Amino acid sequence: MQAFRRQGRRYGAGLVCSEMVSCAGLEHRNERTLGYLRVGRDEHPLAIQIFGSEPRVMADAARMVVAAGADIVDINFGCPVRKVTKTGAGATLLDDPDRACAIVGAVADAVDVPVSVKMRRGLENGSRACLQVGPRLVEAGAATLTLHPRSARQMYTGEADHSLTAELVELVDVPVIASGDVTSRARAQSVLATTGAAAVMVGRGAQGNPWALREIVDGDGAEPSREEVAAELILFIRETMRELGEHRASGFLKKFYGWYLGRGRFPRPFKQEIVQLETTDEVVTRLFAAAPGAASIVEQLEAELPDPTDEILLDSMPISIYGGG
Ligand SMILES: Cc1cc2nc3c(=O)[nH]c(=O)nc-3n(C[C@H](O)[C@H](O)[C@H](O)COP(=O)(O)O)c2cc1C
Repeated sequence: MQAFRRQGRRYGAGLVCSEMVSCAGLEHRNERTLGYLRVGRDEHPLAIQIFGSEPRVMADAARMVVAAGADIVDINFGCPVRKVTKTGAGATLLDDPDRACAIVGAVADAVDVPVSVKMRRGLENGSRACLQVGPRLVEAGAATLTLHPRSARQMYTGEADHSLTAELVELVDVPVIASGDVTSRARAQSVLATTGAAAVMVGRGAQGNPWALREIVDGDGAEPSREEVAAELILFIRETMRELGEHRASGFLKKFYGWYLGRGRFPRPFKQEIVQLETTDEVVTRLFAAAPGAASIVEQLEAELPDPTDEILLDSMPISIYGGG
């Protein structure tokens, strides 16, 4: 999500990555898929992640995401969701190293920017497939590897086993990025020190909590004020509305209300009230009422956003996307 990436950059993330974008969706110029290629001036350096199982289609998709502004093309060999794996994409490719290498090779040949791969440890619990496949992917052209050392079967249960990250670091001579359960500076430092990884990636820890990024990067663990929390949430709501439209945004945002307003920041009944409001407009009005000081912060944040008409959009994009709808 652009809203999440932009926020991450403001709070110190050195590199942000898009959600996975379907190469088949790009091939068919699917309007919703093309909407993921919205790239703002303030997002760079930016990786755009693509998924699929056909080397040629992935190569075409890679060219498109570079045209849209990606500084890095990231390939998804980690998605555990059945809808994706049943098409031979995502984590399944860890079981089909020849095809995985063909994909990386085709994508690396197609674009001039670095190509990176994001993977899980393997499909089944205890799998070490990433250690067999990883070095071959580097040989095929991957410039970095990001490892989320859970199996696909685990989904998000249990813990990320970063001893595998340490083993992978030993096996390849490209930077390895560690993903999984990094939520604090102490955890980031320990993962970096024990694995030799070049960087950590933060996912869930930053959802509704960009302040975690500031703490990880600068060691500044100051709790945000209610005004700051309300302001960040309001901006996130507005940006998400712009990206997804009211209908998709209102459902999508519900989880975020809890993530922002929880952690003792707002009383529980307030959080429950917000989640039950019907429209995002009502949510925004209620947040402003609860934290009037948020208004000037939102105004300042919005003033710093680049003009949306600055975004690079592909010629083939349907007109409706230009308006941000
Ligand atoms: C809601 C959600 C969506 C995700 N989408 C993607 C994705 O599109 N591509 C990807 O490579 N990983 C995706 N991930 C996995 C994360 O990149 C990350 O590897 C995983 O969440 C573990 O890191 P964390 O503990 O910091 O969240 C997603 C995770 C979550 C929770």
